[in-house]
Amino acid sequence: MVRALVTGITGFAGSHLAEYLLNRKDVEVYGTVRWRSRTENIEGIRGRIRLVECDLMDATAVDQAVQKVRPDLIFHLAAQSFVPTSWLAPAETLMNNILGELNLFEAVRRAGIDPLIQIACSSEEYGLVHEDEVPINEDSPLRPQSPYAVSKIAQDFLGYQYFRSYGLRVVRTRTFNHTGPRRGEVFVTSSFAKQIAEIEHGLAEPVLKVGNLDARRDFTDVRDVVRAYWLALERGEPGEVYVIASGRDYRISEVAEMLLAMSTVPIRIEQDPSRMRPSDVPVLLGDSTKFRRRTGWEPLIPFEKTLADLLEYWRARVAYEAPRRGSRRAYGSATNATNADSADSGDTSASASTSTRTSASTNSSDGNSVGDSSIASGASGGEGEGGGDDGRGRGRGHGHGGGDGDGDAARSGSGGNRR
Ligand code: GDD
Repeated sequence: MVRALVTGITGFAGSHLAEYLLNRKDVEVYGTVRWRSRTENIEGIRGRIRLVECDLMDATAVDQAVQKVRPDLIFHLAAQSFVPTSWLAPAETLMNNILGELNLFEAVRRAGIDPLIQIACSSEEYGLVHEDEVPINEDSPLRPQSPYAVSKIAQDFLGYQYFRSYGLRVVRTRTFNHTGPRRGEVFVTSSFAKQIAEIEHGLAEPVLKVGNLDARRDFTDVRDVVRAYWLALERGEPGEVYVIASGRDYRISEVAEMLLAMSTVPIRIEQDPSRMRPSDVPVLLGDSTKFRRRTGWEPLIPFEKTLADLLEYWRARVAYEAPRRGSRRAYGSATNATNADSADSGDTSASASTSTRTSASTNSSDGNSVGDSSIASGASGGEGEGGGDDGRGRGRGHGHGGGDGDGDAARSGSGGNRR
């Protein structure tokens, strides 16, 4: 048996990785968790993993965790991973992501162990990519467009430096967008899927709030990504960096259309200015030839299935949570959502006659519709859910605290209520 330590095990990728490792049967799975971490993503496997309480910002705690586990493998996924949060809280993003990793590396050195260490870096590091530069690979220039991207470049290069200076066996993975069940609701695919599920459930008017639909992203299913993380340590070369990507990009407008095509009710698209970013990365399309050649990895799950599974996840979750938060069917029945009745909400913009699956409109939210209220819990009116660990709190404003992309944030300190 090998011992694997997963930082950010309660997060999106972390929980899928833990499941993958458990299924291998040859791995003892440990994970770092903070006292305030939400654990719903790992409830199903709680009895089969060992949790070690540790805030990565606390060097002493990290020392103790590493000494206790003495891992053979470390998967470092914990991070503040939502790009818009990094404009609202740049210092916190930089500190969490960089110092958390530094503490981990130093703890490994002090413990005198020699684990293989995977670092979850990001395609966001490439930032501004010109049309004639895609697909991008390990040698493409890094032109970061957000504090988050800068934090990931720092993590990436810190990994390289610790390999060169101290021989730490670090393998860096620059993963492109990934999604699937449990994706935090602030990220685009989950944001759209959750809104659709709420609309189907009669909890919101039939309007999908969107940000920049022109961006292009290369999506891989999270279950394929976590297998790649395993292979990165099993077959990757320490000191190296690898792109992990599907090699196919979709415009965000296409992603919206694909999800809307799976909806049981007609929904129209509306742009929400609060979802636009100070600078958005226009295109991220990856070339993972180096990783595929080295490890034999290839993604197996088609994007259509990933989106279908994600929508099913949100349908189940919305159905489960709706009665618990005292929601009412403010917008008619699931099969009758076009017959939107605005009486409950005072929202006069929910009009059946304007519903269509395709029209994109710059007509922004009225800002006070039911979708903005606690009833719909952030289905519209800004990406908004904060809550530190996983972006599922109740705050509004543009997505402060969404930290589950790479894993549970190393440290939150910033709920979703900052406005
Ligand atoms: N979140 C969000 N919400 N994004 C939207 C929306 C919306 O309503 N509408 C359009 N978008 C666009 C964003 O502007 C961006 O261009 C794209 O959809 C993807 O946004 P996110 O899902 O938030 O992901 P990201 O690309 O910014 O970052 C993700 O991928 C990185 C890897 O490239 C995160 O998972 C990062 O942690 C990860 O490193």
